[in-house]
Amino acid sequence: MPKWLDDAVFYEIYPQTFYDSNADGIGDIQGIIEKLDYIRELGCNALWINPCFDSPFKDAGYDVRDYKKAAPRYGGNEDLFRLFDEAHRRNMRVLLDLVPGHTSEEHQWFVESKKIAPCDEFKNRYIWTDSWYFWGIEGLKFIAGEAERDGCYIVNFFKSQPALNYGFRDCREKWQLPPEHPDCIATREALKDIMRFWLKGDKGRGCDGFRVDMADSLVKFDDKQKSATGAIWRNIREMLDGEFPEAAMVSEWGSPPQSLKAGFHMDFLLDHSSSGYRSLVRDYENDGGNNSYFKMDGNGGINLFLDQYIPWYEATKNDGFISLISGNHDTPRLSHGLSPREMSLYFAMIFTMPGVPFLYYGDEIGMRYLYQLPTKEGGYGRTGSRTPMQWASPKEPSAGGNMGFSAAGPEQLYLPLDTGADAPNVEVQEKDTSSLLNTVKKLIKLRRNEEDLCAKPNLEILHPAAGGASNAADSGGRSFIYRRGAFIMGINPGANTAQVPLSVHGIPTLVYSIGACGFENGCCKLEPQSFGVWKC
Ligand code: NOJ
Repeated sequence: MPKWLDDAVFYEIYPQTFYDSNADGIGDIQGIIEKLDYIRELGCNALWINPCFDSPFKDAGYDVRDYKKAAPRYGGNEDLFRLFDEAHRRNMRVLLDLVPGHTSEEHQWFVESKKIAPCDEFKNRYIWTDSWYFWGIEGLKFIAGEAERDGCYIVNFFKSQPALNYGFRDCREKWQLPPEHPDCIATREALKDIMRFWLKGDKGRGCDGFRVDMADSLVKFDDKQKSATGAIWRNIREMLDGEFPEAAMVSEWGSPPQSLKAGFHMDFLLDHSSSGYRSLVRDYENDGGNNSYFKMDGNGGINLFLDQYIPWYEATKNDGFISLISGNHDTPRLSHGLSPREMSLYFAMIFTMPGVPFLYYGDEIGMRYLYQLPTKEGGYGRTGSRTPMQWASPKEPSAGGNMGFSAAGPEQLYLPLDTGADAPNVEVQEKDTSSLLNTVKKLIKLRRNEEDLCAKPNLEILHPAAGGASNAADSGGRSFIYRRGAFIMGINPGANTAQVPLSVHGIPTLVYSIGACGFENGCCKLEPQSFGVWKC
């Protein structure tokens, strides 16, 4: 396990819209370099950059045409190497986005594999049936009619993303290969080759690991328990432990018992419909309302989350870290339906829980989800969460046009800005000590200054009791109190005061709070929408 993860706080960057250094309307790698000090000041010491490789951008770069080449619109490989150097100089780390499950249909491997007689090396690099006349398998998407080769291929996501071939768990047709087939092993080895290309090796110049896209998607039918996919990742982890022991891997999987046992160091909780994570901030109603735990008038208690989280945490605490995210490029923005106060309480929780937290660019200022933007690069409903970072106040053009994002004409921007007069921005929030931005800074600082509040698995739930019934003295069962080492944290996102009987040894000393809270008469008292951290 890379030691540096112990106090890591990640910042996710969507490179298209973070900072444009050359006035062409789109963000770039040099732009990220220029903003490294901002990210460090925020308290984040690690980055995850969404795919920045050569691509036709039919899915914002998750359709890679060349894994070893930075997309020219972001700069060149030299810019990426410089980014690694500049980050390392500041004691920061950089994860690139690895897309192992599919490529672009324009990748040379796929171009070759489409031919009537593909060369041996790439004949089975993708999953091809042996005739165009094939009507599919439940849960898999087949495309016919696109190639000279007589067959259909499977796509992993969009039509433009043919699935790489790591084999089938149950082989029922001649064209289905088992994961141990040499051609499937060759796909896995090709992935290792890409990883070795970018990772920090002897030359000391390279990335510090990968965020892995759809990491659970490798072996096809019927790998429901993901044992065959897990075996591939365990093999890759062995390679990393041997050659790059400092490299970190975080999976887009959303099931820590599977992913962390498969060798990932971290796994994101995702907002899938069945996830407890969703109940925290993204429990949306059909009419656009938000019913989440962190909504002041939301429904239910923290157990909707804990009932799933705690068994996962207990089962995996010796294997790796669960990552709580503020959001990402696929989710509606955190601010969607949440007030700044509600967001700050959520940040208070994710930055004081175990595991390794991730902050999506712009969430620290509460950037808004822009409705009804025309889709961009396969974004569809996700497009509204990918708009340009709002660095400067629209009223103070001194900091540069387009709210400090780009010196290009507004019509040239990759996506439009939030043009509201009250659009959140860094410049204004930096000057306001009570802003969301400054709250996020204080919370991250608090975390990183105290070993007990960093990643390690020292969580003890003090309230509510497991499966406990809600309680009138507890703001309708809405408060959540937990201990980590010498610290006790209490959160009450609800509209009523909570008074939770709690016996603690010694006198708790308040070290940080949002709103009013305290210990009195054997109770932890949390006023509406408050959060406190006590040393005790
Ligand atoms: C998950 C990524 O986060 C998403 O943006 C992408 O569209 C799909 N995987 C396909 O790669």
